[in-house]
Amino acid sequence: MKKYDLIIIGGGPAGYLAAERASAGGMSTALFEKRSLGGVCLNEGCIPTKSLLYSAKILDSAAHGAAFGVHIENPSLDHNAVISRKDKVVKALVSGVGAKMKTGGVDVFTAEAVIQQKTPDGFIVEADGQSFTASKLLIATGSEALIPPIPGAAEGLKSGFVMTSREILDARELPKHLLIVGGGVIGLEMAGYFAAADVKVSVVEMLDKIAGPFDAEISAILQKNLQKKGVEFRLGSKVTEISPKGIRLETGDASELITADRVLLSIGRKPAISGIGLENIGVYIERGAVVTDRQMRVGVPDVYAAGDVNGKSMLAHTAYREAEVAVNNMLGRKDSMRYNAIPSVIYTQPEAASVGETEESAAAKGLAVKSTKISMRYAGRYVAENEGGDGICKLLLDKGSGRVLGVHMIGGYASEIITSAVFIVESGWPLETLKEMVFPHPTVGEIIREALFEIK
Ligand code: NAI
Repeated sequence: MKKYDLIIIGGGPAGYLAAERASAGGMSTALFEKRSLGGVCLNEGCIPTKSLLYSAKILDSAAHGAAFGVHIENPSLDHNAVISRKDKVVKALVSGVGAKMKTGGVDVFTAEAVIQQKTPDGFIVEADGQSFTASKLLIATGSEALIPPIPGAAEGLKSGFVMTSREILDARELPKHLLIVGGGVIGLEMAGYFAAADVKVSVVEMLDKIAGPFDAEISAILQKNLQKKGVEFRLGSKVTEISPKGIRLETGDASELITADRVLLSIGRKPAISGIGLENIGVYIERGAVVTDRQMRVGVPDVYAAGDVNGKSMLAHTAYREAEVAVNNMLGRKDSMRYNAIPSVIYTQPEAASVGETEESAAAKGLAVKSTKISMRYAGRYVAENEGGDGICKLLLDKGSGRVLGVHMIGGYASEIITSAVFIVESGWPLETLKEMVFPHPTVGEIIREALFEIK
């Protein structure tokens, strides 16, 4: 039986980063992945969507070139070519992870691993009919799309009429009318791409706002911008039945049947906890997720978990850091996870990005805050590059300590600018120190410095 210091189950961002760090720290490491290295992020999530959305962005720039003195006749999007390019990008990155594992000395197995038991010699894991043992385990099995118990959803998934983000990212045929169930991150990014590809898009969202926990004003600006691109929104609506003949929508007391030729389910994701043998070693599960502490331990000695499987933040960048914390603790280095400054981005056009408390979440926690809201047009480069742009930046300050608690924005490059806001929230530096920082000019990122000076 092959013996390792560490067995990692799951080769997504948490799993592969942990493998790299553990191996560099001197642990003999085996990584088991049943599908493809890179997990959801690289194969069917973050990277493929960004590839598609960049094509949509180029098309949008070409279509609006005239406002900038550039005339391009009839720009159009070749969906088939976009998907082929996306496949190329994914392939390159997945093989890059494979190469990293190889040079890092990690043993990678493309197999489904199941934990059997804990013995005095370590944990026994079985894969492909073979047994492996390790003194430590990391559960990094990620998450899967949540399928609602709506009549017709399961049948629709079988027939291909209903899709999740996994299938839709590979579909080479464009629907005429796409109905998206769920106006969260996946739903909105997909709505942005398919609307650019000239597909009629309707988004059905149960709540009265899109983009879930995002600042309400930013959600409203994003909705308005997507509507301008042709996306139709049905807020406060629920889908109660799905069939190619009609999709039943319920809004308050009203019920209506609409037709679409494709349905995308994007109502959230759930931790992937079944079939791994967690029950064989007594890993505690609460509300469908593995429970982790700040050191990423699961309550069973020498077993750790990182990434979506703990259901805490379900973002690749959180997974990276959780994996690092887990490995540091395995190696006896003190480290703990903090969740107060994890950025969130929606890569639509315009992009929306957020870190820390919003006015809504601060109020719910009873925090006394001061806030400022400025137009992105305070930044010269934003005006130069955005005709009629309506982006905003909001900054929240804790009244007591004077520290920045949150930054929220919508507008060009928000996904990149938010990194400086992460430093600001995480550092806890006082406002006066932050005001001494020099930002490059002209950048849209200067908006943060402007907001720091606007807050009274
Ligand atoms: P989500 O939780 O972001 O949004 C789901 C939305 O569906 C919510 O607004 C919810 O109110 C709505 N909903 C739930 N049930 C419904 C129903 N029956 N009818 C109508 N609406 C309903 O989940 P989403 O968009 O599926 O994303 C899943 C995960 O993937 C998230 O945890 C997200 O963090 C991650 N992700 C992150 C991205 C990013 O960072 N840019 C991009 C894509 C996904």
